[in-house]
Amino acid sequence: ALPTAIKLFEMAPRDGLQNEPGTLVPTATKIELIERLANAGLTHIEAASFVSPKWVPQMGDASEVMHGIARKPGVVYSALTPNLKGLEGALAAGVEEVAVFGAASEAFSQKNINCSIAESLARFEPVLVRANEAGVRVRGYVSCVLGCPYEGDISPQKVAEVAKALYEMGCYEISLGDTIGVGTPLAAKRMIETARQQVPIEHLAAHFHDTYGMALANLYAVMEEGVGVIDAATAGLGGCPYAKGASGNVATEDVLYLLEGLGINTGIDLQAVIDTGVWITQQLGRKPSSKVALAKGTG
Ligand code: HMG
Ligand code: MG
Repeated sequence: ALPTAIKLFEMAPRDGLQNEPGTLVPTATKIELIERLANAGLTHIEAASFVSPKWVPQMGDASEVMHGIARKPGVVYSALTPNLKGLEGALAAGVEEVAVFGAASEAFSQKNINCSIAESLARFEPVLVRANEAGVRVRGYVSCVLGCPYEGDISPQKVAEVAKALYEMGCYEISLGDTIGVGTPLAAKRMIETARQQVPIEHLAAHFHDTYGMALANLYAVMEEGVGVIDAATAGLGGCPYAKGASGNVATEDVLYLLEGLGINTGIDLQAVIDTGVWITQQLGRKPSSKVALAKGTG
């Protein structure tokens, strides 16, 4: 049975913009994007990333972004923090929720965060302790849950093992990333069936990229398994700089259209999200990759 309510976690300002080639997106544009998304009714927005600016220059203004946004009551603005240095930066910028990010693939872990899976988990421990002291919730990501750009197939057991480690460390929710969007519905369903044996289903989220156009089908498959939290990016923005060829997250507009059709109300204004997607892609010099935006949009 499908869940009766779905929580959407908006990724455009972080996953969406971290991979943007060419000139850096101005801080003011990022701030306006985040404010527009909040005004459209999104209540969970990943707004920035406190990673090394040498690794990801696109996120180098994380502090300025977090300081610059007008915070809307009831909206959670979160940020990625791969280590204690990132967490300290996030705390100084008043971030109230952070996320650590690991992987189910050794090779991807090395490329993305320069350490093994075991080393990454050891590095996250003090981040969770310090965040806990500061009263900040921590989300955990597992990347490459349906395939890795370097290793190919990834076993659901490995995904479940890393998800369990993050959950037991204190992450309140584990977001399972199909980083390169290679999954198909049966594989997604089997992956969730295995992960849910280690982490309660209500603490699992689906973070699917849409490289092969399978994200909506995969989401439907995992919603049937009871997944009630979906990560999506307005206009389908995004990709990971350490996963070549990976395209954006599933578009928020497309997920909203699906949910509306299923009678699942999110309180989010679809037209306002479409307008925001048209606006941000105009700033970036292209069009939204959301089918719904193209069908209904003004762009
Ligand atoms: P490292 O080089 O091993 O780190 O990088 P280090 O501790 O040896 O430090 C090296 C330098 O970086 C030092 O500076 C540190 O101060 C600095 P130096 O002395 O050379 O001047 N540094 C930092 N600066 C700012 N903020 C920090 C920070 N940490 C160290 N937090 C590190 C390790 C993790 C830092 C690096 O590999 C990194 O930043 N990686 C980020 C990769 C990334 O952002 N990837 C994209 C996000 S993940 C994703 O997109 C997947 C997801 O969407 C889910 C999915 O789709 O699957 C979440
Ligand atoms: Mg991602």
